[in-house]
Amino acid sequence: MKSFIKKSWAEPYKMKMVELLKMTTPQQRKKALAEAGYNTFLLRSEDVYIDLLTDSGTSAMSDQQWAGMMMGDEAYAGSRNFYHLEEVVKDIYGYKYLIPTHQGRGAENILSKILIKKGDIIPGNMYFTTTRLHQELAGGKFEDIIIDEAHDPENEFPFKGNVDLSKLEKLVKKYGSKKIPYVSIATSVNMAGGQPISIKNLKELRAFTKKHGIPIIHDMTRVAENAHFIQQKETGYHDKPIREIVKEICSLTDGATMSAKKDALVNIGGFLAVNDWNVFEEARNLVVVYEGLHTYGGLAGRDMEAMAIGIGESVSDNHIHARVGQVIYLGEKMMEYGVPIVKPIGGHGIFVDAKKFLPHISQDNFPAQTLAAEVYLDSGVRTMERGIVSAGRKANGENYYPKLELVRFTIPRRVYTQAHMDVIAESTARVFEHRHKIKGLKMIYEPKYLRFFQARFEKI
Ligand code: F0G
Repeated sequence: MKSFIKKSWAEPYKMKMVELLKMTTPQQRKKALAEAGYNTFLLRSEDVYIDLLTDSGTSAMSDQQWAGMMMGDEAYAGSRNFYHLEEVVKDIYGYKYLIPTHQGRGAENILSKILIKKGDIIPGNMYFTTTRLHQELAGGKFEDIIIDEAHDPENEFPFKGNVDLSKLEKLVKKYGSKKIPYVSIATSVNMAGGQPISIKNLKELRAFTKKHGIPIIHDMTRVAENAHFIQQKETGYHDKPIREIVKEICSLTDGATMSAKKDALVNIGGFLAVNDWNVFEEARNLVVVYEGLHTYGGLAGRDMEAMAIGIGESVSDNHIHARVGQVIYLGEKMMEYGVPIVKPIGGHGIFVDAKKFLPHISQDNFPAQTLAAEVYLDSGVRTMERGIVSAGRKANGENYYPKLELVRFTIPRRVYTQAHMDVIAESTARVFEHRHKIKGLKMIYEPKYLRFFQARFEKI
């Protein structure tokens, strides 16, 4: 007899140690927020109850990883942990050559400096803040070639990270393939809401770029989460293990930058991995200038060991199912309360549509920044703006006006429980109830680069 009882997922781990959380009063939060210039990046984490600012470097490491930390070989050159990491990257991702870096942007800097010349065009499936900035600082210009669906929070297309090949073709026609050093492809497109790219689309992109002699560089920061959506939603992949899908994704690209602070379950670390010896040789030289010797790249031996072990854990089906399952649980709760979120639910967090949530606040008064502040005030839950403040300014000084004006509720891996998810959804719903009374913000301090990190605001 077929059973109609639901089969739930559960965390494939249990707790061995806990970190106590600090609770704050509304008065304390009001004061802390004003002191932080209404920017959640400027809050002290001590004043935060549930921290959903980012999933970057905020994961809980396993006992295996902690044990690995004790096995750190802190030699300046040729650390055993480097060779272990190199072996794991080759085995699990399949890239030939590895350059460790202190985190993702360290790899982006080196790669951009090597591949981009002044006047080059770098097409990509939506920008990411640090990635685009390094491309621009190297003299290039980013061009968005993601499918239009990605810019529409309501559109439920399952692979909103896909590339629109006709957009790429137009760029190749306009500039010529010589001006395009590579196509920049992210798995689990962060700024679109953690939206995946399909294998089918990647294969089509591979065929197109091959014809034009253009390499593909993979921002593989959240590749395992992308693989989960391929397994769940792409025809022919339902029975494939995450590990195999991850390897297939990587095999369709020529190199990668990685922020290991996300998928790979470590608090610090990253790398550049490439298949081309010449690029590797140059990177191996340049890393010495910016990060450290090529066998440590700004990391301690113990950090490389924790990363090597974390990469192995990150491609486990049970892990990724529970990880994304928790995100989906939160998203569904929010939808029950009528909170407008980006659909389909992505891999690393819930992205609340601030334009829909606060339609009476114009984009010049920062609806997403305002909403992030209000959620903090309500419950001490810290989230992040991903809208006009994050988008920054163009080279000519004008603001970018992104279609997506979002607040990201990013879920750290293996850190919070389902009960925390309930508290978060309820707090957001409470703010939604009194949304009509909320007023916007004005910016009173704006730094030149990546302004969202340090900008300050005032209530209007
Ligand atoms: N690429 C993507 C897709 C990212 O999400 C990040 C970081 C980076 C590159 C840069 O890596 O931080 O290690 O230097 N994202 C963090 C976030 C900051 O909160 O989304 P990094």
